[in-house]
Amino acid sequence: MAMMGLARKLVGARRRPLDASLAYQDHLKAMLRLHPHDRDLAFAEGVGSKTVELFRSQGDGHVAVLRHHGLTDGMAVYDLGCGCGRTAQALVRSGWQGRYIGADIVPGFIDELRRKCPGYVAHVHKAPTLCADDATLDIVYHWSVFTHLPPEECFLYLEDSWRALKPGGRTVFSFLEIGEPLHQDAFMARVRLLRAGKPTGLLDTFLHRDWICHWARQLGFSEPSFTNGADESHHPAFWQTLVAMQKPAA
Ligand SMILES: C[S@@+](CC[C@H](N)C(=O)[O-])C[C@H]1O[C@@H](n2cnc3c(N)ncnc32)[C@H](O)[C@@H]1O
Repeated sequence: MAMMGLARKLVGARRRPLDASLAYQDHLKAMLRLHPHDRDLAFAEGVGSKTVELFRSQGDGHVAVLRHHGLTDGMAVYDLGCGCGRTAQALVRSGWQGRYIGADIVPGFIDELRRKCPGYVAHVHKAPTLCADDATLDIVYHWSVFTHLPPEECFLYLEDSWRALKPGGRTVFSFLEIGEPLHQDAFMARVRLLRAGKPTGLLDTFLHRDWICHWARQLGFSEPSFTNGADESHHPAFWQTLVAMQKPAA
């Protein structure tokens, strides 16, 4: 009996870091414990912004990226891995009018988004699919989400984005790029932790542009266009690499 308990514990210990849903829920809980009197800061740190000011300016930057890639009033957009609504809150601030759907695996984030953006639709959704009917979306976007998923799950999300996009619709997303000097330190920091036998925290995934182009061709998207993380010619620099691709018009 004791042996079975131990075996179960060991299996649990091995499974836990790979379960993004649990890892993110734990991360949010830890931030809420760290900042018991500042919920906004806890949620900002929950999605990686060190301050509330940064949370807001990064959200405004997200909206600038979306505008650059064609966002206009009246569109239907899907915010995959929307977190607590860094982009959604910025869309509200910007006065954008349209149909917003957000989805995330962490219920606490979705509750917060609903609180901050009444009128926006947001779902807790754990399968690698989009909560949207076929050919109903103008833009599917996600920031710092493929950065935390295994490549196979990225592929499934991209495949389902194609299904849910209208002909002519586009997907825009950010990723950490293997071989990109801007992201090299983050990659090597994880290598050092692993080498030292220390925990690496949330999964960070580094993708290659070639893989994304390969997936785009396989799924029938247009050839992707990339924006380097330091490029500020059309919107504030994003730091992560951005990619955009279109579902061909019918
Ligand atoms: C760094 S945060 C970014 C949140 C939001 N995109 C933003 O920019 O504010 C990463 C988000 O991805 C979500 N996430 C992690 N794994 C996911 C998955 N398999 N499917 C959907 N969302 C996921 C997390 O819960 C978290 O909200």
